Amino acid sequence: MTVMTPKTAMEPCQPTWLHVCDVNAIPRLGSRVLTHATGDIALFRTESDSVFALRDKCPHKGGALSQGIVHGEKVTCPLHAWNIDLTTGEACAPDVGCAQRFPVRIEAGEVYLAFDETARDDAAALTDAAGSAGAAGVADGIAA
Ligand code: FES
Repeated sequence: MTVMTPKTAMEPCQPTWLHVCDVNAIPRLGSRVLTHATGDIALFRTESDSVFALRDKCPHKGGALSQGIVHGEKVTCPLHAWNIDLTTGEACAPDVGCAQRFPVRIEAGEVYLAFDETARDDAAALTDAAGSAGAAGVADGIAA
């Protein structure tokens, strides 16, 4: 597992970036699910290879957003077709609600997910959900 720590230990609120997978491990216009103790996290890859991470729970009635249809920078929930903005996690008008968003960074084709100072616990609790939207195997270094 690769954990990128803040520049100084004294800077509060600096996220820790956890390496979760290669960009190519996420299907284009699809998703990959990471299982976490606090709830599943869905990684989405757009047609232009941008990657976003949202809690895999629709703000409407909890549908699995990872099973939705990715289009542009939105995902359409499979249950009642709400559109969720991948950049913010907000439901598109006229619907109202928000899925938790996790900052994502891509470096040299590798995807990193930001967590707060509890990242070491997060890393221990973060695993890949097998069989998610074409995902294969366990993401690099995140399995316990
Ligand atoms: S649960 Fe997602 S639109 Fe209803």
